[in-house]
Amino acid sequence: MRNFVRELDRLHREAADPQARAERVSERLRSLLAADDVLDPRHTEPDPRAYRQHLVHVDAQGRFSVVALVWLPGQETPIHSHVCWCVVGVLTGLEAETRYQLDPVTGELAETERAINMPGDVCWLVPPDEDIHKVRNDGQSIAVSLHVYGTDIGRLGSSINRTYREPIPVASSKA
Ligand SMILES: [Fe+2]
Repeated sequence: MRNFVRELDRLHREAADPQARAERVSERLRSLLAADDVLDPRHTEPDPRAYRQHLVHVDAQGRFSVVALVWLPGQETPIHSHVCWCVVGVLTGLEAETRYQLDPVTGELAETERAINMPGDVCWLVPPDEDIHKVRNDGQSIAVSLHVYGTDIGRLGSSINRTYREPIPVASSKA
């Protein structure tokens, strides 16, 4: 983790824009996930009430943070957007992700994509486009994922910009 954080510092200086940073960090995170003992066991503790966030590292200048999210089966986030770029890699378990697009005129959400993210899978989100999603542990066991955010999560508390209500399902066209 110490090496990873050092490399994040370098990547942050080398890549100028959020998209480039997220792409470079995702490559590095993918190799970190293949290593053993990535996280201190205290950062994999769940909470029976809701998915749990552990702050693993905050850059001294607040430019990025590393967070572990821990989910028991069935625990999920609300639908949300983000304050900054983020890169997500699954360490353990199975995370079901649903992505949405916001209609700027009607303000309604439309589901655009569903993915099952398994250990070793990495994805990223860069606001303001395609950064609205929901994540749920759809597996039978605990799920743990590592998140790198382009901001100071210690100060902000979370990467969530705003949350949304579930979209109303489109009515079946069957007669
Ligand atoms: Fe998210």
